[in-house]
Amino acid sequence: MSKSIDQKSNKINSSWKSPSNIALIKYWGKHGRQLPNNASISFTLSHASTTTSVIASPRPINDKLAIDFLFEGQSEPNFGRKIDKFLTSIRDEFFPFLYSYHLEINTANTFPHSSGIASSASGMSALALCLCDIDQQLSGQAEYNESFFRKASIIARLGSGSAARSVFPTMSVWGQHPQILGSDDQFAIGIQQNIDPVFKTFHDDILIVSEKQKSVSSTAGHNLMNNNPYAKARYHQAGERMSQLMKALESGDVETFGKITEDEALTLHALMMCSDPSYILLEEGTLSVIKLIRQFRAESNIPVYFTLDAGPNVHILYPDQYTQQVEQFIADHLQQYAQNGRIIKDFVGQGPEKLG
Ligand code: DP6
Repeated sequence: MSKSIDQKSNKINSSWKSPSNIALIKYWGKHGRQLPNNASISFTLSHASTTTSVIASPRPINDKLAIDFLFEGQSEPNFGRKIDKFLTSIRDEFFPFLYSYHLEINTANTFPHSSGIASSASGMSALALCLCDIDQQLSGQAEYNESFFRKASIIARLGSGSAARSVFPTMSVWGQHPQILGSDDQFAIGIQQNIDPVFKTFHDDILIVSEKQKSVSSTAGHNLMNNNPYAKARYHQAGERMSQLMKALESGDVETFGKITEDEALTLHALMMCSDPSYILLEEGTLSVIKLIRQFRAESNIPVYFTLDAGPNVHILYPDQYTQQVEQFIADHLQQYAQNGRIIKDFVGQGPEKLG
């Protein structure tokens, strides 16, 4: 692989497109330095992604970071400050080159900013990949091997926990679990080789019930788990469900997969409702869509399931072979609950891509 160093100016650049992911077993509760209180597992998505490019130019050594940050072509001081704080916190350990390089960061999402889709997983993983890439170009390596993606997963995790899972194709597990070889709290691992092909065909149609920004951030929600009276039982349950789900994924048991996935989505929101203070991120439309999906499944026997992230939007999951029937069902019965008719059609994806 050729290095992207401009010989005259010594500028180094790197561009990556990195996807979002949707958790099936949810990460909810953390400790220490961005370490999860239970293992989680996700589908890597395809369409919903962030493209980031970073140009690093040499500068005199300075303690203060030098970063220009553009989001979709516009300067975004709020994002910029967040990135500054994050990079300052990891610079000594991972990227000492930041003392002597100026960074120009350009980033854009494929999904609209107002769509209610969280961009932290795709955004942080894309940034992590660019920085790891620049770092390895500087040290004279240019191989995108296992240890490269492992490091990117660690950096992404430090930026946002769920981002750790975005750097692998198909499905990832983040967090130590006794039955998953190689699983670790520090980084996610790809598990595509262990899963039945049917799951690689899954669609995720994201029905945007509300485009509003959520009232309680995920970070605040994780913190509320510290005093949640059900926390201990929850972490135990997540571990058990992970064992059951892994078995279902390996054997192609779509029904068990669907049951656990829906139970997890409802558990996540139940935990929010019994936090102190309690809060509700579901909207009326969310419940209507959930009920209709369950009714349609019961009547048609078509394996279509839902999951939710920390918000009101419904992820509709189903194997590719049922696309026609499910699309018809969505158009006839669910479309009316989508704000501005917005449904993002996504599917299980191939993981991040380095751009030329
Ligand atoms: C409900 O990764 O957004 O989507 O680590 O504080 O950035 P931070 O939280 P974040 O939490 C995601 C929570 C979730 C479940 C999941 O993706 O596993």
